[in-house]
Amino acid sequence: MDKIEIQGGNKLEGEVLISGAKNAALPFIASTILVDGKTSITNVPILMDVKSILLLLQNLGAKCELTNNHVMIDGSTINNTQADYDLVRKMRASILVLGPLVSRFGHARVSLPGGCAIGARPVDMHLKALRALGATIKIEHGYIEAKAEQLIGSEIYFDTPTVTGTENIMMAATLAEGRTVLRNAAREPEILALAEALNTMGADIHGAGTAIIHINGVKSLRPAEIYVIPDRIEAGTYMVAAAATRGDVVIKGCNPEHIGGIISKLRETGTIVDVSDNSIRVKGVEKIKSVDIKTLPYPGFPTDMQAQFMALMTIADNSSMIHETIFENRFSHANELLRMGADISISDGNYARVRGVKKLQGAQVMASDLRASASLIIAGLIAQGTTSISRVYHMDRGYDSIEKKFSQIGANIRRIRDN
Ligand code: EPU
Repeated sequence: MDKIEIQGGNKLEGEVLISGAKNAALPFIASTILVDGKTSITNVPILMDVKSILLLLQNLGAKCELTNNHVMIDGSTINNTQADYDLVRKMRASILVLGPLVSRFGHARVSLPGGCAIGARPVDMHLKALRALGATIKIEHGYIEAKAEQLIGSEIYFDTPTVTGTENIMMAATLAEGRTVLRNAAREPEILALAEALNTMGADIHGAGTAIIHINGVKSLRPAEIYVIPDRIEAGTYMVAAAATRGDVVIKGCNPEHIGGIISKLRETGTIVDVSDNSIRVKGVEKIKSVDIKTLPYPGFPTDMQAQFMALMTIADNSSMIHETIFENRFSHANELLRMGADISISDGNYARVRGVKKLQGAQVMASDLRASASLIIAGLIAQGTTSISRVYHMDRGYDSIEKKFSQIGANIRRIRDN
């Protein structure tokens, strides 16, 4: 397995260009199942998760051509409605094919995603909502089997906002008969982006980006050209890295509107954040103030930035409380940060008290999930000496060209390939 090795201590300086958002690209790719024709998607990030979902679509019979950051997907050749365990277990977001398959083909058999490093992550709300649209659902031999000759629009209430749940049902409802209303829908920018992409294909969706979404079913969708919005979590990761190394970095090609919570929290730490149309300049300060964080659904502070912020708080001036409210097991990076000299104590499972220390020390550490790997990279950048991070396949799932981008802004970082 590849490792990442970092010599800490360099201030990051220069410009970094943000890629397309993983969590927008994945539902966009799943949405092409709804189309009897060729959909073109641009600004696609080059990531393992993108490759995994394309493999899944190919397995369904779709023709997929990925060149540079462009993918062309032909949904007219789909002839299989089963998503196998071997593909789904690699990436939970594979559940996104369930709604489109049952909506267009009247049938889907999708492996039930198993456990996950960051929490139980059930899909009960996806299934409850599909049932409300008239699908019959059975769970057998580890597979979800959904059938419906024609989905029928319905009123759906999500007990808690779910990102992929909202996306799955929004896609399914585009080809349902009549009107669907989603209440307590997730409001992430990726949901709005998906609704806009579906509308370009001929769907009739209103209110995406708010908690109530109206979908008027249409008979079919047509091929279209869609563009993946910038990755707000990738942007946030470089922002926090710039602040932690007391550097000066311009994050280009991002949408500051989507990063409001991160910008505000960074400013509270004393970091200087200058925002313009599609770029953000982050200038670190010597004395980083400790701030408290509570993760919440958008527009609250994103759980996908909690691990990176914890790395920053390890060298802040005082004590900070980090409260994770979205996932029940998302502090695995804390144990690795402790090995680097951080002072962190976890209580009640989802509170972390982080007391700032003067310095972290390089160590051998292990990434346990995607955002934990980003946290350890930031810690490695500020630590004295060498940090070696193993299990970086987690990082490769969601960060496009990460070593290259960090090297370009002055990090001493390299991949050690396992041959
Ligand atoms: N939940 C249920 N039942 C469901 C669905 C969700 O109980 O049927 C719970 C979850 O267990 C969690 C909460 O609801 O406690 C919210 O989970 P959500 O469904 O919103 O998460 P998700 O859709 O599985 C997406 C992102 C995650 C991100 C979360 C929260 C994608 C592909 N994934 O996951 O991204 O952390 O929303 O914002 O969009 C990442 O990129 O590193 C990542 C994990």
